[in-house]
Amino acid sequence: MVDWHELRERAIAAAAHAYAPYSGLFVGAAGLADDGRIVVGCNVENASYGLTLCAECGLISDLHRTGGGRLVAVVVVSRDGNLLNPCGRCRQLLYEAGGVGCAVNETTTVAELLPGAFGPDDLQSKSER
Ligand code: THU
Repeated sequence: MVDWHELRERAIAAAAHAYAPYSGLFVGAAGLADDGRIVVGCNVENASYGLTLCAECGLISDLHRTGGGRLVAVVVVSRDGNLLNPCGRCRQLLYEAGGVGCAVNETTTVAELLPGAFGPDDLQSKSER
């Protein structure tokens, strides 16, 4: 059972640590790992705009730093608590860490957000050619 309220609160708390002087959009992400752990991240911008790290990047790093496992559910919010859609790149990151069944923002899944995703299985079939 996913405690969506808890995930949202943790994501809002993470957003308070965002470094977003260029866009002004402070983003927090919180994820539930398959062992019950909650992992979090915030966005970190850069004067070279394209180098910006999304909140989900920090979340994925936190997942691995604190023991690995798989993501079961994820929430992404702005500092004021509004749900945000994960960007395209981060959908791919969530696919890698959680697979198609990972729930996102309570109402959707990675399967819906990134249909027909390229993933680890595609690399496997290449090596077997
Ligand atoms: N951002 C995220 O942190 N996650 C997303 O999925 C969408 C965008 C951040 C990146 C940038 O710092 C700001 O939001 C505006 O694009």
